[in-house]
Amino acid sequence: MRVVHSALEMQAIANKYREWGKRIGFVPTMGYLHEGHLSLVRRAKEDNDVVFVSIFVNPLQFAPNEDLDRYPRDIERDEALLEGEGVDFVFYPSVEDMYPDGFQTYVEVDKLTRVLEGKSRPTHFRGVTTVVAKLFNITKPHRAYFGKKDAQQLIVIKRMVKDLNMDIEIVGMPIVRESDGLALSSRNKYLNEEERRQAVCLYRALLRAKELIENGEKDAQAIKNEMERVIKEYPLARIDYISVNSLSSLEPINEVKDGDTLVSLAVFLGSTRLIDNMWF
Ligand code: PAF
Repeated sequence: MRVVHSALEMQAIANKYREWGKRIGFVPTMGYLHEGHLSLVRRAKEDNDVVFVSIFVNPLQFAPNEDLDRYPRDIERDEALLEGEGVDFVFYPSVEDMYPDGFQTYVEVDKLTRVLEGKSRPTHFRGVTTVVAKLFNITKPHRAYFGKKDAQQLIVIKRMVKDLNMDIEIVGMPIVRESDGLALSSRNKYLNEEERRQAVCLYRALLRAKELIENGEKDAQAIKNEMERVIKEYPLARIDYISVNSLSSLEPINEVKDGDTLVSLAVFLGSTRLIDNMWF
């Protein structure tokens, strides 16, 4: 496995693999890797001839009041994990290389980013789509892999790829969970013992939604009310939002529609904001 720091060098390597007719699989990450990331890497290994993983904590997708400075980092551990998975190249650029002086070009997906996470974090998706577009131009993948835990991110990136005619297949992968159901996230590290115990409330609320939907409940408000009731059983949890949306448009919906429903929520445990979702 080789670690590449320069965007130019990474791009030259990607060009070579393309010339040789190799299929490139790409997994973009912000590091501090967990089993969720590794599941993307394993799938990328299965599907492609060569696998590139990027590790870059992207300042552009953090608002000034967010956790950019304390976002967990452990590059040595990450490299060891990726080496163990047989990754070929790790792209690990500096902020200066990604955003040199004079940088002023952004990629923005419009309506899909105004709801859900975009409402709570209005500058977030512009940062994500800008860096992902840059990473795609640098690593030139045939396929790129994203987790469904960041459901809106996955949907926004699929839109960007379609709208900008990027010739890349976007593969969405299932959420990986702890044994009690908490979705894996690098941010789980911020939770103290009691917050960690109560963080299961997101999954419990989603399970309740699933149960209701499977028993024929269609009314979005009834589902949200029940989810809220579940979360309120956990005193450390503070709801940011609970939402039922169309998977295709991300518009809020009043009625569950089979195959086109995203139930999602964001909940604070202490100062840590966690998100989770299920697709129906
Ligand atoms: O999901 C993430 O880790 C990030 O948003 C991504 C896609 C690597 C862009 O910085």
